Amino acid sequence: MKVTVITISDRASKGIYEDLSGPAIEKIIQETIAAAEISRVIVPDEKDEILKALREAASADFILTTGGTGLSQRDITPEVCREYCDSSLPGISEILRSESYKETPHAMLSRGYAGIKDKTVIVNFPGSVKAVTLCTKILLPIMDHAIKMINNEGH
Ligand code: MTE
Repeated sequence: MKVTVITISDRASKGIYEDLSGPAIEKIIQETIAAAEISRVIVPDEKDEILKALREAASADFILTTGGTGLSQRDITPEVCREYCDSSLPGISEILRSESYKETPHAMLSRGYAGIKDKTVIVNFPGSVKAVTLCTKILLPIMDHAIKMINNEGH
């Protein structure tokens, strides 16, 4: 399984603070799926840079993004990913939000999107370590099955 983790943050991309969420996602996946090939990139909240990172990860089975799903004017992750994807996977974002709501009512403020581009599943997580820890654990059990389905390998 190939996974690309894209941290989308103006400040993390400038080194103003350390990206902790990208490594947290990587660690959780690697602990569960030893054979996963995981790469990570950090980009600012800029449409062109996000699109470039998405395109460069075109061979990945999963692209997991963290950050840029909130309400600030710079938060554009869901819009860029929605525009880039061929189809939506609303079930994933619905469950991420509803399970996250059990952790914090602020979960309602994440506009995270999930969709498919060619044979890659793209899922937006919020930016905090707490959020990505929960969201990665929620996603893990369906990742294998999603890849099989997308490659027409049945159930
Ligand atoms: N989801 C989980 N599971 N845990 C959290 O702590 N934080 C929320 C929300 N989703 C949170 C969460 C907060 S405070 C915000 S503002 C939104 O995600 C958007 O975060 P982002 O702008 O960093 O993407």
